[in-house]
Amino acid sequence: MRILMVCLGNICRSPLADGLLKKKITEKELMHLHSVDSAGTCDNHIGQDPDTRMQKTATSFGCSIEDLRARQFKVQDFNDFDLIYVMDQSNLENVLSLARTEEDKIKVKLILNESHPNKNLEVPDPYFGGENGFIEVYDLLDKATDCIIKKLEE
Ligand code: 4NP
Repeated sequence: MRILMVCLGNICRSPLADGLLKKKITEKELMHLHSVDSAGTCDNHIGQDPDTRMQKTATSFGCSIEDLRARQFKVQDFNDFDLIYVMDQSNLENVLSLARTEEDKIKVKLILNESHPNKNLEVPDPYFGGENGFIEVYDLLDKATDCIIKKLEE
């Protein structure tokens, strides 16, 4: 399975989702079966490494995301990935607006529906908030990626 994590800037939420799922895939020795990447819907942060606050939170929980670099979501990603997980409704709308076909659209899912089925919950944008926001994002994405890895193991 080829999985893409998408948020707005690709410097906070989607790099963490990317790093966590890569770590879990590696721990389960499933690297030969699955790949993970991340992207942002906006172009403001292209080429940047993840937000220092997100890096610090990830490191404190034993997950390294420092090597990731932000890139923008592109239409070609619908060809290159099987599953596209978005963090919030705004990401969902932005990605769906680029979909060309029904086949493109069904690849796009709110990531928290993995841990909270059918609730359509959002991973809150931590960018303008305090440290607790980053810990909350970690908690939500740790649980969601646990659910994803369980599915990948089946
Ligand atoms: P992300 O967080 O979408 O989780 O990477 C944000 C990063 C940057 C901005 C907003 C959210 N920004 O407004 O620049």
